Parts: sequence; structure tokens; C-alpha cells
Amino acid sequence: MDFSGFSFGNITVDGALVAAPMDGITDSAFRRLLRRHGASLCYSEFINAQDVIHDSILYERKANLVRAEERPIGFQIYDNDPAAIEAAAKKLLRFQPDFIDINIGCSVARVAGRGAGAGLLLEPTKITEIFDRLSDTLPVPLTAKIRLGWDERSYNYLSISKLIEEHGGALIAVHGRTRKQGFQGSANWDAIRAIKEEVHIPVIGNGDVITVEDIHRMREVTRCDGVMIGRAAIANPWLFELRGREEISNQEVFALIQEHLALMLEDYEEGVALTLFRKFLNQYLLPFHLDRGAKIVLFDQVNVAALLDAVNNLLQL
Ligand SMILES: Cc1cc2nc3c(=O)[nH]c(=O)nc-3n(C[C@H](O)[C@H](O)[C@H](O)COP(=O)(O)O)c2cc1C
Repeated sequence: MDFSGFSFGNITVDGALVAAPMDGITDSAFRRLLRRHGASLCYSEFINAQDVIHDSILYERKANLVRAEERPIGFQIYDNDPAAIEAAAKKLLRFQPDFIDINIGCSVARVAGRGAGAGLLLEPTKITEIFDRLSDTLPVPLTAKIRLGWDERSYNYLSISKLIEEHGGALIAVHGRTRKQGFQGSANWDAIRAIKEEVHIPVIGNGDVITVEDIHRMREVTRCDGVMIGRAAIANPWLFELRGREEISNQEVFALIQEHLALMLEDYEEGVALTLFRKFLNQYLLPFHLDRGAKIVLFDQVNVAALLDAVNNLLQL
């Protein structure tokens, strides 16, 4: 299968495996880790347009951390107001994103419930307005990440995709579920294929890619230009090297843990890094089926050196 890549706008993507945006997960350290392990494109965690407009330091601190090795990187924005999205996108340009992505897929109630994220699927005129306002005026490509519709009675992924293309969108990433599904049921890859057949801009398929076989199957079923991996990347960053978790030696697991912690220490104080790292460590060590006690021993370590010693013992290196 051809994994050589694709291009959109002025961006050439060197490879077909894309790291999904995940709030609370895909910070700069994890993005850099995934890029080093073969992800060819990545996105920021979603950014609330209101935070940008009101100069919240929360997003600024994160936006300032983007490194050269993460590029190409898209900054993803969410809001329910096209004017706010426009203002935020323009303000974000000072951090030099390679592209701006509009979140049209977030299903969580505090976002979709106020008409942002997947809530925009119910208001196609707002999507048109966002793309009309921005696609010609931004100096970087404008893209979208969508779901299939609000619920199973309002699938509108084909018309939304067409509209995004017609109004200047350069690429569409599709999570093959509705808003109502959240993360339940399974992703509908046939729908992603239908989008791919409908539009001429690149389509990235997303949803339920867990194994190397899934990567191949997603491309076969959908003919998508890129495969986006979210949750499974946390347990197995080696997926981007087309390697199953069962192929990874304990030495490699240890090396990855060291690498990830070193990246985190560039951006966070040690105590913060250790706390943030727990969710990753939990996933990296899933094959060991650790009980609560064993996890507590790891999570209670007060510095990185002690944690690495404890992991080393556990992996019996
Ligand atoms: C913890 C978490 C946070 C997420 N945050 C975002 C986000 O900020 N923006 C976005 O477009 N999607 C977000 N998603 C959705 C993922 O990008 C992806 O569409 C979804 O997880 C399905 O892909 P997967 O089956 O490979 O995980 C998030 C998903 C998870 C699990």
C-alpha cells in the first residue's frame, strides 16, 4: 500500500499516518514523540476561540511550545460563532501554524451543546460562513475535522463535506461516528469512502484504527489519503511505524518511556510531568495487566529517576 503521503494547500505531507488531536493528550511532548515514531501530520489540542480572543494564558502557553519537528502542525479551533472563529484564527497566526483546522466534530456536551464542535453540523450556514470568511484571507490552508452528523436521523456528512470543499476547505478529516454516538458503536468507514468519492480535496479517515491491520483496512475500505489514529496511539505509539504492540520488546518500551519523560521535562516541572505522565504510563504498560497496588507504586514515585528505576524493575531489564 502507498504510504508516501499527500498534499493540501501549500503543504506536502510526507507519509499517510496522522496523529489525531486529543485534548489533554496531544501536547507538544506527545506530538513530538509521535512525529519521531512516524506520524506525518499533527494537530494541536482543540483551542477555544474565546480563550484566544480574551488572551487566556492557558492556550498561549501551549501554543508557544510548538517546535520545528512537529511541523506541519494544524491549530484546531472550536466555537459556535463564525466571527469569533475568524478573530481567533487570525490571532493564532502569530504562532505560525502550518494550517488552521475547524473542529466540527467534538461531541462533548459543554462544546456540542452550545453549538460548537459537532453542534455546527446542525447549522451548515455557519460552516459556510466560517469557510467564506477565512479560506481566502488566511495565509495558510483551512481544514475541517467532522463527524457524520448530529444523530442517525440527520446524517449530513456528504453535503457538509461538499460545502467545505466549495467554500475553500483544503482537507477534511472524518471521524466516522455521529455526535450522538460519542465513542459508542463502531465507526462507519463506508461513509468515509462516500465522502472520498464525493470531494476532490484530501480526506483523512478516522475512527477505530487500533491495529496495523486496521490501518491497511481503513485505506482499502475508504480509499482515504491519510489514516488518523487517536486513542490507540496512546497505548501504541509504534503504530505509526506499522508495528503491533506485541512486537515491541521491553527494552523498547523502557526507551520510549525515557524518551517521552525527557520530552515532557522540557515543557513541565518534574512534579507536573509525573502527574501528566500517569495516563501514558498506564497505557504503555497495559500488556502487563498491572493491579492497583503495582500502579500505585509507580504513580507514587516523586521524581523521574525513581520512576524509571521502578519501571526498570517491573520490566525486569
Ligand atoms: C481524550 C480525547 C480527546 C480528544 N480531543 C479532541 C480534540 O481536541 N479535537 C478533536 O477534533 N477530536 C478530539 N478527540 C477525538 C479524536 O481526535 C478522534 O476523532 C477519536 O478519538 C476517534 O479516533 P480513534 O478511534 O482513533 O480514537 C479526542 C478524543 C479523545 C479520546
